[in-house]
Order: sequence, then C-alpha cells, then structure tokens
Amino acid sequence: MLTEIENLEAQALAALAAAAGREEVESVRTRYLGRQGVVTDRLRSLGSLPPDARPAAGQALNRIKNAIQEAAQSRRVALSRAAEDAELEEGRIDVTLPGRGQRAGGLHPVTRTLERIETFFRRLGFDIVEGPEIEDDFHNFEALNFPAHHPARAMHDTFFFDDGLLLRTHTSNMQIRVMAVQPPPLRVIAIGRVYRCDSDLTHTPMFQQIEGLVVDEQANFANLKGILASFCRHIFESDLDIRFRPSYFPFTEPSAEVDIQCVICKGAGCRVCGQTGWLEILGSGMVHPNVLANVGIDSERYTGFAFGMGAERITMLRYGVDDLRLFMENDLPFLRQFSGGG
Ligand code: DAH
Repeated sequence: MLTEIENLEAQALAALAAAAGREEVESVRTRYLGRQGVVTDRLRSLGSLPPDARPAAGQALNRIKNAIQEAAQSRRVALSRAAEDAELEEGRIDVTLPGRGQRAGGLHPVTRTLERIETFFRRLGFDIVEGPEIEDDFHNFEALNFPAHHPARAMHDTFFFDDGLLLRTHTSNMQIRVMAVQPPPLRVIAIGRVYRCDSDLTHTPMFQQIEGLVVDEQANFANLKGILASFCRHIFESDLDIRFRPSYFPFTEPSAEVDIQCVICKGAGCRVCGQTGWLEILGSGMVHPNVLANVGIDSERYTGFAFGMGAERITMLRYGVDDLRLFMENDLPFLRQFSGGG
C-alpha cells in the first residue's frame, strides 16, 4: 500500500516536471489532487482500509498531497520565469551592433560653387581675401567713386546703422581695402556676404558675392576678357558663348556686363532668359583712375581690372535651380540632391 502511494508520488512529480506549460501543470494537478483526483480518491476511501493501516496510509497520502502541490507551484514559477527570459532574450538589444546612422551630409550648393570658383582663381595665382561686412561709407562708396548724392548709390538699397556705418552692399569694398595696404602688382579674389534692403522672388536681403581685382603695369581689357571667358567655361563646364555688353559702374571705366548663352535654351530663347538667349552673370571693367588715385596708386604707371558676381545666381544657373529662396530654406530633400558629386 505504502509503496503504491510512493509510486503515485513519483508519477505525479515526473508528470509535473515534464509539463510544458501552465495549463499542463494544472491538468496534472487536477488529475491527482482535483475532486475526482487519484490522491483525493484514496483519501476518501481510507475508511475502507483495515483500521491499523489507516494512520500510516493517511499520513503518506497527506504528505504526497503536499509534495504534489508544492511541485506544481514551483513548476508554475519555473515556467513563468522561463517565459519571461525568452521574452527578454527576444527583445534583447545588442549594443555592440553598429547604429543605423545618418547619411553623411553634403556641402550647400552655394558653398560648392564658391569652392569651385575659389579653386579656379587660386590656380591662376589669385590670393583669396575676406573683409568686414560692417563697413563705412568711404570703403563701400566714396573711394569707389560714388560721391555723395551720386545716383548709383540709390541702386544699392543700403542698410544703414545710426552711427553712419552700413552693411556693405557689395564686395567691391575689398578693392579699396586691399589696394590701401598692398602695393601692386596684385591679384585678389574677395568672397563674402553682402546686404541690400531688397526682397522678392529673385532678391534676398543677404547674398554672397565674388569680387576679383588685378592691378599691374600691363593689366588690360584683353586680359580681363580672357580670364572671364575661361572662368565661364570652367564654371559651367561647357563651351557656352559669352558676350561683353557695355555698362556703367562708377568704379570702372570702361565697364561691361558679361552675359553667357542661356544655360537652359542654349541661346534659342526661353522664359528664363526672357527670350533673349543670354543671361547676365557679372559686372566688370577697368578700374577707374579716380579709384586708383583714392588709394594712392599712380594711374599713369598702373592699370587694373575688376569683376564682381553673385554666388547664388551662378549656382542657380549652374544647377538649373529656378527659385532663389530654395538656397535659404534648408529644405533637406532639396539639399540632398547636391550631396553627391560636384
Ligand atoms: N559691385 C557691383 C555690384 O554689386 C558688381 C561689380 C561690377 C563689381 C563691376 C566689379 C565690377 O568689380 O568691376 O553690383
């Protein structure tokens, strides 16, 4: 009888140890300890045993009842721990894996253009200079042959400060600053921000200019033409025609504006070039003798030529962008188009 009870215990514990889930644990428990369970049955029928066998059988049955109960409980705990571990394992993060990462950024298209322009002129032996954006009237206007009340001043839409200073309206101020400290011969390129109180589809209050200046004993218009022609071929990477159109700037005489054949229609005439087939890209000319005199350079001995252009405009033409505002808005989908090659 007692061995039989022990066998029952062994079977129950083995079944519990093999139970693969909480439900199975429960059904094993019910099979032994439930109302119709094997152990419950035996307890109920203790009365049918001979009286002297009852105490030992009763004790043994109660002991295995407790043992089965405990085994069921600890199996439940073990199973739920295992389930928890499995869940953790599944969601585990390997912190040693490389991150998803950001794509490498790219240079802004205007910066790209500026770098390309800079490289071109460095190769021709130009020095690159920078100067102040807060400027005085002398360097921005007066010394550049814009006397007070000169009508050309009005075209510059200047931002003035209360103390008479102003935000430079062009990088031509650097012509004066360079010539004032550096004796000729000189070849410089000045790059930087300029400001005009003007804002619409094709104008922003701040933009960037590139200014060139050469002063030498033999500097002449043919040199200017040659440099600008090869500059255009380099920047636009094609053999577009260029033309020099007479123009006026107070600080150059003679003055010319340079047009390139329209990059969109190749000269046939389209909306971008106003059906003319040409696009204006820069101003230029021979440095006015008054300007040389203003910085103490002998205009009998030295001559100079200068040119200036807007970086955003060149960039628009180079990449076929038709809205200037795109350069200021930091719109990533727009900018990403330029993060590849040159
Ligand atoms: N400073 C002029 C402007 O902003 C551009 C310019 C024209 C610069 C002729 C020059 C030049 O150096 O020779 O409109």
